[in-house]
Amino acid sequence: MKNNMYRLALASVLFTGAVGLSSSQRPPAEKGLKDYYQAYFPIGVAVSPQALKNPAEVALILRQFNSLTPENDMKMGPIHPEENRYNWGPADAIVDFAQAHQLRVRGHNLCWHEQTPRWLFKNADGSPVSKELLLRRLHDHIDTVVKRYKGKIYAWDVVNEAVADDSTQLLRNSDWYKICGEDFIAEAFRYAHAADPQAVLFYNDYNTERPGKRERIYQLLKKLKQAKVPIDAVGLQGHWSLVEPTEKDLRATIERFASLGLKVQITELDVSVYPWEKDRRARRPGESDAYTPEMQQKQTAQYKLFFKVFRDEVKYLTGVTFWNISDHYTWLDSYPVAGRKNHPLLFDENFKPKPAYYEVVNF
Ligand code: XIL
Repeated sequence: MKNNMYRLALASVLFTGAVGLSSSQRPPAEKGLKDYYQAYFPIGVAVSPQALKNPAEVALILRQFNSLTPENDMKMGPIHPEENRYNWGPADAIVDFAQAHQLRVRGHNLCWHEQTPRWLFKNADGSPVSKELLLRRLHDHIDTVVKRYKGKIYAWDVVNEAVADDSTQLLRNSDWYKICGEDFIAEAFRYAHAADPQAVLFYNDYNTERPGKRERIYQLLKKLKQAKVPIDAVGLQGHWSLVEPTEKDLRATIERFASLGLKVQITELDVSVYPWEKDRRARRPGESDAYTPEMQQKQTAQYKLFFKVFRDEVKYLTGVTFWNISDHYTWLDSYPVAGRKNHPLLFDENFKPKPAYYEVVNF
């Protein structure tokens, strides 16, 4: 029974309209995003191990994508919950799946201020750790995780979101920064490079297209390059919306970072149907969850524009990864507070391509 359901789901996703035909009568599997963009860059998707057990999602992943990013399972909190214990199971499941299906993996991430384990910044007695001890912990973490997946993970987001949103500051006032000053950033790249000299090493951040934050990130990256820190690339997360970024800001961002000799990837793409609201997301009284035709049209136009820019910038752009598979589940349904449905991806809640999909593959 389970097997039959699996085959039915797989068949209906892979060969729409061809259910019931014998294998010799089936048309070849249709092309997916990865095929249309084969001459450009890999197309990735953020996944959980649960998705890799759902036949409909597996079918969609295998048809459309050729790169995976673990959505949460390689972050320091989930993968290293206690100082002397790593939780490899979920991360291994994703890497094993990728190996079995010849997909690339982007590792995400090695150093971030969110989703950190409780033990990290404290001594046994609860007092804050010294800079020396924190850097040693960072080293041991990076060394262990990167070496475990050496040869299986081609790129790492080494440092995530270290730059401040506040225009009066360069770096975010995180525990990392409070304890180590800016040194943790360069050290994280050095540790990762020592553990796997082949891995492509990224600095990754959001709102990179907004001119103020773009310049702050540029200052940081320039300093790292000048100090000969082993950084190869910058990840634009790409948590965008119906109203941003503009074409001009997007192109300017890619080209400004590329001018430092860095490659660029879009690492967490989604196009929210709501404006950027890091500080406010609860549904307001009277507000509906409707995905209106106007929203869908605007979103389609945004996706069309973004992929046009990506193709134009292929000299610098080495990958595009979506943050989640379809509108069936998106982190934006519950970020930063639960309670409002979002529809930010190319596939709808039933895993079917949306109008935006056809614009993205039609060029
Ligand atoms: C998000 C995940 O999608 C959620 O499941 C989790 O609860 C919070 O983190 N920037 C990043 C990603 O670099 O790691 C975040 O992922 C989304 C924002």
